[in-house]
Amino acid sequence: MTRPRSISHNLTRREFLSVSGASALSLPHLRVAEAAPTSQTSSGEQTTPPFSKDFLWGAATSAYQIEGAAREDGKGVSVWDEFVRKPGKIRDGQKGDVACDFYHRYAEDILHMRDMGLTAFRFSLSWPRVLPEGTGSVNQKGLDFYSRLVDALLAAGIAPIATLFHWDTPLALHRRSSWLSRDMPQWFGDYAAVVTRALSDRVTHWLTINEPRSFIGGAYVTGVQAPGEKLARAEYMRAAHITFLAHGRAVQAIRANTHRPAQIGYACDVSPSLPAADSAADAAAARESTFASPLDHFSGAHWWRENAWWLDPVFLGRYPASALAALGKDAPQILAGDMETIHQSLDFLGANIYGGWLVRAAAPGQLNAQPEEVHFPAGFPLTAFGWQVTPDAMYWGPKWLHERYQMPIFITENGCSSCDWISLDDKVHDPQRIDFTARYLLALARASAEGVPLRGYLHWSLLDNFEWQEGYTQRFGMIFVDFPSRRRIPKDSALWYARLIKSYGASLNVGPD
Ligand code: FCB
Repeated sequence: MTRPRSISHNLTRREFLSVSGASALSLPHLRVAEAAPTSQTSSGEQTTPPFSKDFLWGAATSAYQIEGAAREDGKGVSVWDEFVRKPGKIRDGQKGDVACDFYHRYAEDILHMRDMGLTAFRFSLSWPRVLPEGTGSVNQKGLDFYSRLVDALLAAGIAPIATLFHWDTPLALHRRSSWLSRDMPQWFGDYAAVVTRALSDRVTHWLTINEPRSFIGGAYVTGVQAPGEKLARAEYMRAAHITFLAHGRAVQAIRANTHRPAQIGYACDVSPSLPAADSAADAAAARESTFASPLDHFSGAHWWRENAWWLDPVFLGRYPASALAALGKDAPQILAGDMETIHQSLDFLGANIYGGWLVRAAAPGQLNAQPEEVHFPAGFPLTAFGWQVTPDAMYWGPKWLHERYQMPIFITENGCSSCDWISLDDKVHDPQRIDFTARYLLALARASAEGVPLRGYLHWSLLDNFEWQEGYTQRFGMIFVDFPSRRRIPKDSALWYARLIKSYGASLNVGPD
């Protein structure tokens, strides 16, 4: 995610009251008891869980951020391996060459996952580890690593959820124009087929592409992520279209090669607009704004506001008409058959939800009134990254996504970075992560109680890891990693999450230990 850091704005008193009263951080009306009839045990715990028994509880990671072993066992080079070597690109000049050393320590990490009671683990495959040149000959040792990982997860009772692409494009393909080339969907489809043939006797859950919006935004619009290019709008919109085509080809490849029935999704970053006040008018305005596609959503400044462009083609088979009209000559060229390729049948909608923006309805009586953005008030709660804490996003987001796309929703990422260190008692106390996660899960429970079908929740992240251009400065894990030694310490949140999972979410409103 490359959302801009928060901006504080001065608000009028009326704006402040409307924001602080109903929305954002406070969800005073929200109790698990609303989600399902409950009874209490003597210890005060709720006994009727807010999520179904087959809801998957897990954590999410990605290859470049955790694996390390950047040059080992025949792995090829990715754009990230190269980008981190360019001066000034990464905070403190850090690299992911070793990262969490998950490549060598995955067995220890799976023991932690088992202790936490995780029922799912999301990882991504490094494309150049499997195909060093991106196409052509397979690096069997690379594939074997993922095979061992899958076996170890299954032995621990944890469902593997495999992402095919989490931003580490093979450098060899980058040199052949990669996401700007109409050959890329075919290359990606071929890679998907190789992986599916090797793992689908055991892996049944697949995600094609992680966060196409953030991927294109970081890689080609702002250029703050690998490969670090700032292209003209027509070019990056072409890259976006090719990314959608690659998704479609990968779905076809998985379906054609899978040994077992596959559950396929697409992990999209979604940032809904949120009603600034608890009113039907603001809710309607927020809903409209969530799926609006004005031209300014296609420039770096507001890139992370756009949702419909990144979902409609995949789930509805068309781009938002208003976006195509606004983009004009910068809209991607759509060839015959493209939209059919992009619009494959999927099993769930994967949503990475970290937060949203506040809007309110325009004052009555205005002609052509549009929802208005409400700036976050000064002092609004922020994570260590500077991202606003807006749990309501986890209620309205899934609700509106389900309404519009009629798909089961899988929360494929959510979490926060916080200022964690090893305390004098040799433990890592992270009360803010616990509070953040509880608030977001309570909001999700509310969506569930209102009938939104939910497949699971994957916390970002299992481990503190390499946070892209921020290096190791943003700690997102439930497990602390002491980077000099790579020693792992489960944080308080890991213990809290374990208890939550054990109660199927019923211990949500009890608070931290
Ligand atoms: C998401 C990315 C993930 C991580 C988190 C914090 O946008 O998918 O890799 O960086 O943000």
